[in-house]
Amino acid sequence: MVKSGASSGNKGWSRIAPALNRMFSARPRFSTGREFVPYVKHAVARRQVLLKSAEKYGTPQYALDEDILVQRARLFRDSFRKHVKRSRFLYAFKSNDLPYMIRKLKSEGFDADVASMFELMLALKLGFRRIIFTAPVKSAEEIDFAVRNADRVVLNVDNLDEIDSIIAAVARLRPKAKVRISFRIRPEGKTGWSKFGLSAAELKRAVKKVLAQSSLVWYGVHFHSSWNSTPEAHVANIRMLGSILRSGFRQSDLFGLGFVDIGGGFLAEGSGTVFSATGKGSLLAAASAAGGSRSALLDRICVDDVDGIDVFASAICDAFRKHITLPLGRPDIELWAEPGRFISSVPTCILFKVVSVRDGKVFVDGGINLVGSASFEYEFFPVVNLSRPLLKMRRSVIYGPLCDPDDRWGNHCFGRECRKGDVLAVLHQGAYAFSTAWRWQRPVAAYVAFSGKTIRLVKHEESFSQRYAGCRF
Ligand SMILES: Cc1ncc(COP(=O)(O)O)c(C=O)c1O
Repeated sequence: MVKSGASSGNKGWSRIAPALNRMFSARPRFSTGREFVPYVKHAVARRQVLLKSAEKYGTPQYALDEDILVQRARLFRDSFRKHVKRSRFLYAFKSNDLPYMIRKLKSEGFDADVASMFELMLALKLGFRRIIFTAPVKSAEEIDFAVRNADRVVLNVDNLDEIDSIIAAVARLRPKAKVRISFRIRPEGKTGWSKFGLSAAELKRAVKKVLAQSSLVWYGVHFHSSWNSTPEAHVANIRMLGSILRSGFRQSDLFGLGFVDIGGGFLAEGSGTVFSATGKGSLLAAASAAGGSRSALLDRICVDDVDGIDVFASAICDAFRKHITLPLGRPDIELWAEPGRFISSVPTCILFKVVSVRDGKVFVDGGINLVGSASFEYEFFPVVNLSRPLLKMRRSVIYGPLCDPDDRWGNHCFGRECRKGDVLAVLHQGAYAFSTAWRWQRPVAAYVAFSGKTIRLVKHEESFSQRYAGCRF
């Protein structure tokens, strides 16, 4: 037991001690793999098409299951629409900017959430008519481009300086359409200051500036909080926004307000956390490192509990009515959401081929450059041996080809012992993988999309000339 305030006057320590005690007494929910079997079964049911795709288009490759993508998009949309008819869904391009996939989401009625010039250009090229542009820093070039396309783009303002830049751009470019402005609000949560958004006090000043311009309309308010396994943060943020809007503004100020945007941050199911990355696990990891050994316990997988999207939708829509539309007397205000990960993660897997097995370790032909982070050090996603599958998880350390010891896909595999030539699938790799891939050592892999038995190559592997385009030799 760690004593609070152990040494006199040490306030920092007394604040940390209760948290340490909580961490020590936490009981991790270890997985035997059973929780992931439904996802493994799903992959095994698509084994023939995945093996064919690996053979035809080579490995490594990203493989998108179009049917699952559409199912998830509809599930998300219908879960919210059931409660709030006036709801809209703007897919967060940053989670996966594969044009073929985005076009599919557009045909399911999704609008666009973009965060940079390229994403904005892509949204316009794909024909989106409702685009929200959110970024903590927007360049002068990006602001000009958004203003020129004001009939299709809502500028989600992050800070007071940005408004001045927009006002200057509008005066210079004189767009035909009024420029629709939304404000990103910084949730006043436990974590204190963050680089994103305006405080409640800043919002008042920002709104005043916008209302003074006849070429601008105050059209929306927005927040985003990441990594939510329950709707708690969204509900708290809606409550906070409702209170700001009710107490800080007159009805006439809110005249043009068309939407409240609750951002993204809806975790997808079907992943786990490596024990060493949990609170208790990291304490034990530090202790075992100090003792010069590493226990296998640290590599065990903890199950991530995530509420279903219906639970999120019901709680969020209740809060939206209770804190926004009813008290403001404004049933016309729309609810906007910007899901990324929930939609894009589950439908894509990455396919590899086993190149060698040595000292009981498996080496595959694709590295973590394909996901752009060493996330498998702390996150778990099921890996399936498609050549010889089993619905049982066994220990199998899987390394990639990069010159980096962290280039690892985890320590477990569903399948018989891997052999050279086996094809493996790492499941649920559609979010923050292709869009965040590193240009390090290896090309960005091909992307394939399949529906039933039909397979299409929707992005070919990066070539040598594409990699070095524009370089002087
Ligand atoms: C403003 C904004 N909207 C939406 C998203 C998408 O979040 P997620 O992929 O977790 O749903 C993000 C992610 O960082 C974001 O910053």
